Amino acid sequence: MENKFSRKTKELKPSATLLINKKVSEMKAKGEKILNLSVGEPDFDTPAFIKGAAIKAINEGFTKYTDSSGIKELREEISKKLFKDNNLLYYPEQIIVSNGAKHSLFNIFLAICDEGDEVIIPQPYWVSYPEMVKIAGGKPVFCRFNNEYKIDIEHLKSLINEKTKAIILNSPSNPSGIVYEKDELKTIGEIILRNNIFCISDEVYEYYIYDGKKHVSIASLNEELKNLAIVVNGVSKTFSMTGWRIGYLAAPLSLAKVIGNIQSQTTSNPSSISQKAALSALSFNLKDISPIIREFEVRRNLLIKNLNEFVQFIKPQGAFYLMLKIGNLNSLQLCEKLLDEEKIAAVAGDDFGIENFVRISFAVKTEILEQAIAGINRLAKKYG
Ligand SMILES: Cc1ncc(COP(=O)(O)O)c(C=O)c1O
Repeated sequence: MENKFSRKTKELKPSATLLINKKVSEMKAKGEKILNLSVGEPDFDTPAFIKGAAIKAINEGFTKYTDSSGIKELREEISKKLFKDNNLLYYPEQIIVSNGAKHSLFNIFLAICDEGDEVIIPQPYWVSYPEMVKIAGGKPVFCRFNNEYKIDIEHLKSLINEKTKAIILNSPSNPSGIVYEKDELKTIGEIILRNNIFCISDEVYEYYIYDGKKHVSIASLNEELKNLAIVVNGVSKTFSMTGWRIGYLAAPLSLAKVIGNIQSQTTSNPSSISQKAALSALSFNLKDISPIIREFEVRRNLLIKNLNEFVQFIKPQGAFYLMLKIGNLNSLQLCEKLLDEEKIAAVAGDDFGIENFVRISFAVKTEILEQAIAGINRLAKKYG
């Protein structure tokens, strides 16, 4: 049977984060209490006003197909958001709303990759990038990190060739939590311009940013870069709407049109109800979510202040993950020991292109985090 499946499926890895969640569910079903730090979503509920907008949409019968690229009001609201928060001028025709930012990214790879085209993915990276590039027929090419866990510029330069189509930027980053400064983006931007490649800027964690830092979109640096940039964002992380599946991209008009065509022939529009919910989320004053972001900063601080000297970690400046390592354990051993000895679920760094680290999420309640810190410290004393 399997020999009838496409070559693409043979090369495809299942999502690492979903696999660990499955193991956690199995252990929980056996009655074991697990501290689940493998999750990639905020722990707060979708705000009531957003749910209200969805219920209203249902009651008013807004339950049919919509414009396949997303309803105009929502694309207008996204256009306003990009201008207000990111200093980016995109017209609604340049915006495509999809079933989550993940879907936006996949649409992009389908639109730009021919067989063998290369997409540069800086390590450590979000697990889904390489697999999505592969499904689209492209070839993921990995760029090393420097001692700050940011792009190694010399390595980046050496990777670019005539097959290079794009580079992916993800700031704040999942999994490392690093945030690129404007100057660093300028340096990367010059390389992008010189080589005339696309820059896919995944900005889904833009509001989860700490230490008074400010998110800068590479597309906002100058008009030439904006013409090569595709900005990806969504409501999943910001408004705790991971299950609603709304993400979007903003791109040069000709590319947006092609992506619109792909979407119209594949999934059609994202859920009409979720679009109304996203519309209400985005028209909301973002200042009002800042208490939530500050709460995440408090948790981040709790974590970095209380991990003991045997734990090595990358200090997150954004997003809600922390990468850590202990002694000489490789990432799989560390993951297994955390789960078996301390009942802590984490994700192995190998899947993110970084050896010996594991990723934990601090998007969990403080009491869970405190118990996890104690467990990690115990393990670190033993193996560190
Ligand atoms: C870096 C990054 N980009 C994109 C996504 C996709 O988000 P969604 O499809 O829920 O909008 C995620 C989700 O974990 C992510 O971590």
